[in-house]
Amino acid sequence: MTQLYSTLANLYHEMYEHIFDYDKEFNFYDTILKENDCKKIMEVGCGTGMLARRFLKNGYDYLGLDLFNEMLDIARAEVKEDCFVQCDMRNLMYDREFDSVLITGRSLAYVIENQCILDTLTGVHRSLKDNGLFVFDIFEANGIFDNFDDFEQIIHHNTKKIRRISSLKKNLQTGWTYDWYANYIIEENEKVSEYDDITTLRAFTKDEILLFLKLTGFKVKEIIDEPKTMTLITEKI
Ligand SMILES: C[S@@+](CC[C@H](N)C(=O)[O-])C[C@H]1O[C@@H](n2cnc3c(N)ncnc32)[C@H](O)[C@@H]1O
Repeated sequence: MTQLYSTLANLYHEMYEHIFDYDKEFNFYDTILKENDCKKIMEVGCGTGMLARRFLKNGYDYLGLDLFNEMLDIARAEVKEDCFVQCDMRNLMYDREFDSVLITGRSLAYVIENQCILDTLTGVHRSLKDNGLFVFDIFEANGIFDNFDDFEQIIHHNTKKIRRISSLKKNLQTGWTYDWYANYIIEENEKVSEYDDITTLRAFTKDEILLFLKLTGFKVKEIIDEPKTMTLITEKI
């Protein structure tokens, strides 16, 4: 498993506020949740709480789950609300509690085996009230494998310059999976530190994710296709 959410959690937190547009993401979820009258929500893969603080500020009854306490500790320190729980999304233990469950930031990409995906979606289904709303985003396999190029990012955070050099390799062992090798070079006050990380991620074809949803009792309301990602708005049946 990647180090990005454990030993490198602070680095993730510093980088991703410059990579993701959390205001835009929050507005997207907020619109759907309001349209569907959802107030009690659970965010799975909540990371360092970047959306949590926005949901709480806007009056949602919010619970955030993540596998890594290192991520949740940053969320707990910054959000100051007791609404974060360490939990593996493959073992959700809630029963008909939420109007909506969100899996954000393509976090389902870390669940790579078919049975584990079925376990996750079954747990989400059980957590939702009748007709509850399940919204999540994934990497789309055609988009990922058609443009399977190495890439480099430079991010400036306060006095830090973070350079990330990424290279991708197919492994295809458990589906449309691939290994992401990342080399981080961090410069601050003339000091340089460097870290290597490897992560296995799963992408899905549209047919594949629709079959997983059908097998676990969800009806698809809307699919939003983007070049490498897909967002699915679904309802518990
Ligand atoms: C790309 S990050 C997204 C975090 C957050 N949603 C954001 O947008 O900043 C993926 C998150 O999924 C979490 N994660 C990975 N595997 C998980 C699992 N099995 N159960 C729960 N969370 C998991 C990671 O710890 C990480 O916080």
